[in-house]
Amino acid sequence: MLVPTISENTTYEFATDVRAGLTLRGQKELPSKYLYDEVGSALFEVISHLPEYGLTRADERLLRRHAAEIVGRLPGPVAVAELGSGSGKKTRWILEALTRRQHTNYYPVEISRSALVMCERELSDIDSVSIVGFEREYLDGLLEVTSQRQTGQRLFVLFLGSTIGNFDRPCGVKFLASVREILEPGDALLLGTDLEKPAEQLLRAYDDNLGVTAAFNLNLLARINRELDGNFDLTQFSHLAKLNHHARSVEMHLYSKKRQWVNIPAAQIAVEFQEGETIWTESSHKYSAEEVFQSARCAGFRCDAQWIDREWLFAENLLIAE
Ligand SMILES: C[S@@+](CC[C@H](N)C(=O)[O-])C[C@H]1O[C@@H](n2cnc3c(N)ncnc32)[C@H](O)[C@@H]1O
Repeated sequence: MLVPTISENTTYEFATDVRAGLTLRGQKELPSKYLYDEVGSALFEVISHLPEYGLTRADERLLRRHAAEIVGRLPGPVAVAELGSGSGKKTRWILEALTRRQHTNYYPVEISRSALVMCERELSDIDSVSIVGFEREYLDGLLEVTSQRQTGQRLFVLFLGSTIGNFDRPCGVKFLASVREILEPGDALLLGTDLEKPAEQLLRAYDDNLGVTAAFNLNLLARINRELDGNFDLTQFSHLAKLNHHARSVEMHLYSKKRQWVNIPAAQIAVEFQEGETIWTESSHKYSAEEVFQSARCAGFRCDAQWIDREWLFAENLLIAE
């Protein structure tokens, strides 16, 4: 079952955010959440299979190997909410482990309707799982999930794939604190975090040889053309991945190959780009294993356990709301 959002509002918010981001003085920006429309979510699925992008496989290895132990650390019964579930493939390990002891309500929260549809299709064959998907922003969705909570039931929140890395560090802690506020003491959060690794490996992960990540990034301009009547010439922009050493992140940008004007009628703007100017579309912050504990503590969680994948440095962190 899917609880949809109201689509006129979504288009209005998209137009407002595009206008705000592209009329900034200095660095132009677009929020990364808009990368995920139907095309973007499908491209992200492909990225997760690319040899250069070891992150998803590391996350899945950890869940596959440790699902029984993770679930064993949760006093039952629990309902599962997943923030930004994507296709939900990796979540199978957790749900299967849980259903060995209880019927499980699973609530994926997604901004992308097509990701939610993929997720429901992917996981609907698991016996003893009921799926209700919320087409919502993370916190709005989580609030709705808590309203479905049954007496005595704990909530187990999944935030996988190092999606937390899309926030800068202070906003990441603030986000975790907001999640904590919605939860009750004893509820749990499983947080996936990509760890720091050599520069070359990181850059390849966000700029693959096939050009799928480039297509994923450029699709944001195509989406503006489709939904807001924009006239971006996609041949005149290119994908750029670069390291931000100070922020310890990889940034994705869209690079203007020449001086050009772009009209976006539904956002009521005409935007000038200089040759070489970029639009910053996403950041992926990388962590040290220890700093995750500190951030969790600042946000009101206790770190119960951490599992690290050594093949592709990645940590799964089980945090308990205090
Ligand atoms: C990096 S992908 C990760 C997907 C999946 N969790 C994984 O580990 O492969 C981030 C997901 O979060 C969703 N998303 C991004 N911003 C969101 C927001 N503000 N609220 C809800 N979902 C969001 C996207 O649609 C996308 O499916």
